[in-house]
Amino acid sequence: MKAILVTGGLGYIGSHTVVELQIAGFKAVIIDDLSNTRVEVLEGIEAITGERPDLEILDLKEKESVTEFFEKHKTIEGVIHFAASKAVGESVENPLLYYENNVGTLVYLLKECRDRGINNFIFSSSCTVYGQPDILPITENAPVKPALSPYGNTKQISEEILADLCAVSDLRSIALRYFNPIGAHDSAMIGELPLGIPQNLVPYITQTAAGIREELSVFGDDYPTPDGSCIRDYIHIQDLAKAHVTALQRLINLENKANFEIFNIGTGKGSSVLEVISTFEQATGMKLNYKIVDRRPGDVTEVYADTNLANSELGWKAERSMAEALRSAWEWEKKVRNL
Ligand code: UD1
Repeated sequence: MKAILVTGGLGYIGSHTVVELQIAGFKAVIIDDLSNTRVEVLEGIEAITGERPDLEILDLKEKESVTEFFEKHKTIEGVIHFAASKAVGESVENPLLYYENNVGTLVYLLKECRDRGINNFIFSSSCTVYGQPDILPITENAPVKPALSPYGNTKQISEEILADLCAVSDLRSIALRYFNPIGAHDSAMIGELPLGIPQNLVPYITQTAAGIREELSVFGDDYPTPDGSCIRDYIHIQDLAKAHVTALQRLINLENKANFEIFNIGTGKGSSVLEVISTFEQATGMKLNYKIVDRRPGDVTEVYADTNLANSELGWKAERSMAEALRSAWEWEKKVRNL
């Protein structure tokens, strides 16, 4: 069984990916510092797959611990690297934290991979690298725009680091540029666990429906879109998780066409904030309190993926609808809150 290191494997996207890895026959070894998740997520993974992944609780910034980790786990053949900070506002307040957490740790990890001949590396990137695109849907060839935040910049820099290293070493890497991941596992055993007040739309919606938040604020209805609210490409977390397994298999089976490849991981369909709200209401039968407020600084008007490359070249396609994703998010919220 091939062992794969999943950094940030107890996080939202990481935990769903660990499940899909195990289902596909890989052994997952997780590094997580528990900074934005809980150790109980392991139970959820085990409940779904019947297998408890190995977990090392450590901070990737502690170089010596990372070296010790690799000394202990000598059978690792690939890495899926999620561990990173992702709050846009926080990154503006504290850029060094973001450059150290997201860029510094990538460098340490890649040094270990280089020194140990671990050549398969999947990187968790973001459609944030496109900024406000000129042409929609966005293809992978669209220009990377100046980053709107240190967080966005760390994703751009990380892609560049990978491209540079892949050009001069045996490292083979795929960066997956995610659009907006939402929802939870069908089993409601794992899902998103935002600590504190959610920053992202769907956890805010489910917490409002659960009565934890009074009402949802819709950030702007005066954008140049059909209903005035912003448009995003919302992708079911299980579809997104599977894309990582497909990408990893591509590298392991030497099917990659270049040493560094980039794929958009979205559905190809844009939905407005107001459409997400109405789909949530239809899918769950819940009525959502919401009000229109001012625009949120830094939000782009509209982004959705051109998924042709992921479909034809990677051989991956999103299969689930936004309604299914929203229903699963609600089932998970109810489970967490004992509703
Ligand atoms: C945000 C980040 C993105 C990051 C991603 C991961 C920004 C500009 N972008 O994506 O770089 O990769 O999170 O966490 O911060 N909305 C509301 N009310 C809310 C929350 C959100 O109306 O309470 C709207 C937003 O204006 C946006 C949409 O919902 O139009 C989605 O927002 P969100 O879930 O925060 O994701 P992004 O902003 O797309």
